[in-house]
Amino acid sequence: MCDTPTQPHCNPNARYRTFDGSCNNLRNPLLGTPVQPQSRFLPPEYVGDIDLPRTKSLQNERLPRVRPTSNTMNSKNQGTCLDDVTVAVLSWGTLVVRDTLETPSTSIKLSVKRAYNVLAECFHINVNDDDPYFNVTCLDFVRASPILADQCRPGRRQQINQLNSYLDASQVYGLSEADNDKIRVYRGGLLKVNNDNIPDKQDSQSIDEIITQTAFFRLHNIYAKQLSHFNPFWNDEKIFQETRKIIGAVVQKITYDEYLTTFLNDETREKYCLKSSCRQYDETEDPQLRVGYSVAAGRFGHSRIPPLQRFVNNILRVLPGPTSPSLLKQLVDDILQEKAGCVDR
Ligand code: HEM
Repeated sequence: MCDTPTQPHCNPNARYRTFDGSCNNLRNPLLGTPVQPQSRFLPPEYVGDIDLPRTKSLQNERLPRVRPTSNTMNSKNQGTCLDDVTVAVLSWGTLVVRDTLETPSTSIKLSVKRAYNVLAECFHINVNDDDPYFNVTCLDFVRASPILADQCRPGRRQQINQLNSYLDASQVYGLSEADNDKIRVYRGGLLKVNNDNIPDKQDSQSIDEIITQTAFFRLHNIYAKQLSHFNPFWNDEKIFQETRKIIGAVVQKITYDEYLTTFLNDETREKYCLKSSCRQYDETEDPQLRVGYSVAAGRFGHSRIPPLQRFVNNILRVLPGPTSPSLLKQLVDDILQEKAGCVDR
């Protein structure tokens, strides 16, 4: 069935961003909104040109096997080690990813896939007997859910971004009014926290998520109280939206002016306009994240994960479950002191 998404009506003078990122681009209001195809640096090259993964090079030779390639690449690689980069930088990296990108994978269970041999959705990685890391014969590798770039025309398989691609603190506020509704007090522009000043909802969250969500909920509530104090005639909605606007700006400012400096030099940030001082807006720019970023470039941060994080045992004991202020303090102290791993070449 051909299901063309409804175009939203945008108010060009709106003061606040929408939750799903629609209307950020007035020429194409749906650009960068959730459940849109990820963009590409280059068109995909599938076997049969529709959706089967490539097995041969352009010279028609079999592509090298994944595990030997990975082991060879990593065996001599010491990477770039920086003394002044801590795990906190890594946490910020995950925050940036979680604010902008989530590629859903096909939801059929692996056992079902094996039984029915659904090869297009499952692309196992074979493992040799002498593999230094894995003592199995095969690794499950589930493919990303498919979508067509143009939903009304058959074409090559593309991948989806479930989130809005904009760096707008949507990780804190949600992607819709309904998401947002769950975290608001609807009084004084505040967000819901428990007696320990920690966000109520903590189930199925990672350590980083608990830390950053707590930090941003607290910061939001501090700013909301200050705004409310200086603007006694503002109602809940006004205080909430103004505070959300400030928090979005804080996320952008730290990302562009501090986080990016840990791996991009000044010249590069200048050249690609990756500084908060860079105010030029190009409405023809595609804000949707690229597949090359989600599957490769964006994951460079993984090599920064240290081999062992000091707090790992505590965390395994504590999660999932309520977080206490003392544990939270320990986690924050840890990530501020623990050195990050070395970045791959
Ligand atoms: C303790 C730290 C981290 C852990 C445990 C972790 C773990 C993971 C896992 C399990 C996935 C999903 C793998 C898959 O479905 O293929 C993933 C995806 C990803 N990670 Fe990380 N990661 C961490 C930190 C980072 C950092 C610091 C960055 C970047 C600076 C990063 C960038 C990405 C990206 C871009 C994806 C793809 C997301 C998507 O397309 O949905 N990760 N990570």
